[in-house]
Amino acid sequence: MNKNIAVIRGDGIGPEIIREALRVLDKIAELYGHSFEYTEVDMGGCAIDKWGDPLPKEMLDKAIASDSVLLGAVGGEKWNDVPSTMRPEKGLLRLRAGMGVYANNRPAKIWKQLSDASPLRKEIVDQGIDFIIVRELIGGIYFGEHKTVGDTATDVLTYSEAEIERIGRIGFETARKRNHRLCSVEKSNVLDSSRLWKKVMHRLAAEYPDVTLTDMLVDNCAMQIVKNPKQFDVIVTENMFGDILSDEASQITGSIGMIPSSSLGSTSCGLYEPIHGSAPDIAGKDIANPIGTILSAAMMLRYSFDMEAEAKAIEDAVSAFLDQGYRTADIMSEGMQQVGCTQCGSLILENLR
Ligand code: IPM
Ligand code: MG
Repeated sequence: MNKNIAVIRGDGIGPEIIREALRVLDKIAELYGHSFEYTEVDMGGCAIDKWGDPLPKEMLDKAIASDSVLLGAVGGEKWNDVPSTMRPEKGLLRLRAGMGVYANNRPAKIWKQLSDASPLRKEIVDQGIDFIIVRELIGGIYFGEHKTVGDTATDVLTYSEAEIERIGRIGFETARKRNHRLCSVEKSNVLDSSRLWKKVMHRLAAEYPDVTLTDMLVDNCAMQIVKNPKQFDVIVTENMFGDILSDEASQITGSIGMIPSSSLGSTSCGLYEPIHGSAPDIAGKDIANPIGTILSAAMMLRYSFDMEAEAKAIEDAVSAFLDQGYRTADIMSEGMQQVGCTQCGSLILENLR
């Protein structure tokens, strides 16, 4: 198959981790007889420096015209003082909205080789951690009006039934492909938007009788994720709750550096990115963990290009890398062999066949 992939290297460690993911994609192309072409797209701080805009219109157009987008990370202290509408993160939010990718899928799964890296007690980890957070990505408080007048700042949180319904369906369908348990997370004891959220979820439940729907308040969910993560199969939640809970969920699996994500809308063109940030403090030192990005590329193959065997080959190569005792700095433990970003990529490549 011939695919055109838009590549956003971004800021900080973005270029280093993307480089390793592209080497993996090139090897997959060679092994399976595909052809992947890459279109470079500038976004984030580097686009501000080059074009005076975190996501110029032509760049968004290139991303939308591609078969899918692979993103490293954006942002950094250097751009802290630019106006809020011009921050690197604004580029990312405009990209997500412009692509219409409303459903963000963030797996929290513990690799058996890394169970020691989890900050949770061994008996909790041993029960298994394997759930997915389905996060609404282009609505809610992120996209409401933001304003500061005098000494008062306002951010508006709005959801329509239609917006809740389309993400709700993704939640139910994801649960259907897994263990048929869906937990809808909201704050309906305080927020109107959450009461609407809960109502729509329960209305949808009638269409998915094979899925068990439960409700949980977001503060309780934050607690349950560390107390008893095994109870979760699929969590569906709004934009900001999903942002916060997915960082928490990633940490209990050992390292945020390992977690990929997919974001999809109504077409097969998706956005794939690791859930960690641009880590400017370690940029350029060749010590970043490229695995979250490499696994994001695997998700792209699976969900946007329907290349299941190829995706599985990448995941198996990562697993073999861990089995062989190699670790990047963020997941290093006693007795293991520490490797840098480039070497990590090379070792994963060697395991690909
Ligand atoms: C994430 C990030 C982004 C978000 C930031 C960089 C805007 O934290 O992808 O989780 O809040 O969505
Ligand atoms: Mg986040």
